[in-house]
Amino acid sequence: MDRNLSMELVRVTEAAALAAGRWMGRGKKEEADDAATQAMREMFNSIQMKGTVVIGEGEMDEAPMLYIGEELGTCDGVEVDIAVDPLEGTNIVAAGSWNALAIIAVAEKGNLLHAPDMYMEKIAVGPESAGKIDINAPVIDNLKAVATAKNKNIEDLVVAILDRERHEKMIQEIRQSGARIKLMQDGDVAAAINTAFDNTGVDIMLGSGGAPEGVIAAVALKSLGGEFQGKLLQQTEEEKIRLNKMGITDFNKVLFMDDIVKGDDAYFAATGVTNGELLRGVQYKGNIGTTHSVVMRAKTGTVRFIEGQHSLDQKR
Ligand code: FBP
Repeated sequence: MDRNLSMELVRVTEAAALAAGRWMGRGKKEEADDAATQAMREMFNSIQMKGTVVIGEGEMDEAPMLYIGEELGTCDGVEVDIAVDPLEGTNIVAAGSWNALAIIAVAEKGNLLHAPDMYMEKIAVGPESAGKIDINAPVIDNLKAVATAKNKNIEDLVVAILDRERHEKMIQEIRQSGARIKLMQDGDVAAAINTAFDNTGVDIMLGSGGAPEGVIAAVALKSLGGEFQGKLLQQTEEEKIRLNKMGITDFNKVLFMDDIVKGDDAYFAATGVTNGELLRGVQYKGNIGTTHSVVMRAKTGTVRFIEGQHSLDQKR
């Protein structure tokens, strides 16, 4: 893939964030998602490529989608698989809370796991702890491994985990270990990425969340030299059938980054919609919209932070 694609992808997440940011704190998550989705679709279609959405959003909560199988781009360029999350954290935006992002991940055709919209057990860490974690190991073992890798005491660690009833036991185990916890209302993609940046204060992300979000986080961590492991959590008969169709019969299979995104020709781009530890949210002043984005490429490991100043009345 052409390396200039990274700039094009940032345009797409910027457009989605600029559209969704207007809905911050208005209590209307569908409208925010819809705005991000429409802006993302429009900007995607100006890029010279033949993209197919393999990870769309919305099945779980029936939000407006960029649907799976939708073709994006001018259809005359490089063939790619696209994973989109136009608004990661719809409730976050509705509440004006932390860490909502507009996100895309792109890989060569056939290289992204077509994860269905079900839950995935996840563990994510930054580069120092890569190769040291095991999703099947007890929580305490992973915390010890990360503490050793980062030359910290367990008490110094911060574990990001979604504040959900299903995580009660895990939260108890983390507390017993002495590690500190950052309970999140939503937004486990941001949490996974945060593990790769010391200044975010997050050392490890644990717990289950959406499988599509897991695929997107895996692309980012591959680019960042971190590690992500996932296990699809089949709960219903219908999900079992879907997994069988994907060729997954061992429901305990650990999905490593290379299973989720094959090869290293992949890009990840995100723009902050609301403020987060890594990216600031969209700010508007009169005719100017300011965005903060990050774009990365797995092949080279280049990570770019981009501040955009957008003249809103000149945007189509
Ligand atoms: P949405 O943007 O679709 O609302 O997803 C937010 C999110 O918190 C994800 O970050 C996470 O993977 C998933 O929802 C967790 O699902 P649930 O809210 O069902 O626990």
